[in-house]
Amino acid sequence: MQKYIVGNWKMNGTSSDLQEISAIAALATQYPLVDIAICLPATLIARATASMPDFAIGGQDCHHEVSGAHTGCVSPPMLVDAGATLTIIGHSERRSDQYETNANICAKASAAHAAGLKSIVCVGETLAERDAGQALEIVLGQLEGSLPDDATADWLSVAYEPVWAIGTGRIPDESDVAEMHFAIRKQLISRFGSNGEMIRILYGGSMNGENASMLLAIPNVDGGLIGGASLTAVKFEPIIKAAA
Ligand code: PGA
Repeated sequence: MQKYIVGNWKMNGTSSDLQEISAIAALATQYPLVDIAICLPATLIARATASMPDFAIGGQDCHHEVSGAHTGCVSPPMLVDAGATLTIIGHSERRSDQYETNANICAKASAAHAAGLKSIVCVGETLAERDAGQALEIVLGQLEGSLPDDATADWLSVAYEPVWAIGTGRIPDESDVAEMHFAIRKQLISRFGSNGEMIRILYGGSMNGENASMLLAIPNVDGGLIGGASLTAVKFEPIIKAAA
């Protein structure tokens, strides 16, 4: 399975960053054995895809409807119109800030697929949930509720992102990542059969040039969803190199 390395720029980036995005796009040509993508703020997507039409550029969320009275929201066909080929869905920052539920997230993933976008659906436990011994139960529950029944490896990936590891510089023990990714894989296979074997499971949360080799070598870690360390080509490249 080819590793999938995806940058999540979150609420960062203006037109002055287009050059940095193009430096990141150049890495995709340099490392053809790694699938590389970058998920940008909606305001930058059209400009970035216009100058980098062959690079995979995505959104960070989408609405579950095609159009209508939803002030401030962006629909999957709008992302496609801007040139996006993928989107993140159900990031923990949206689950907490925007109160997104598993059902919302599942509907968004279906809508994204209907519009022709690939999706990365995020799951992950909080520190309190991990400390209470509930990490597996929480994550597998989110997985069950957030994935559409017709999910296939062609258009869907999962990102396991422990909430307490995001942006903190802390990562789980290797054995905890292995345990969680194995449990996710098991559930994907039991629900989706052979497709479940092929759905890529990314790890996210403080992945960087120093820890990427270790994290990406763990069984069932098929790539990474990277925030802070994806903001410059210089910080992103070592992760891609580790994946290659
Ligand atoms: P981080 O973010 O790499 O900055 O921890 C990861 C994410 O939230 O997707």
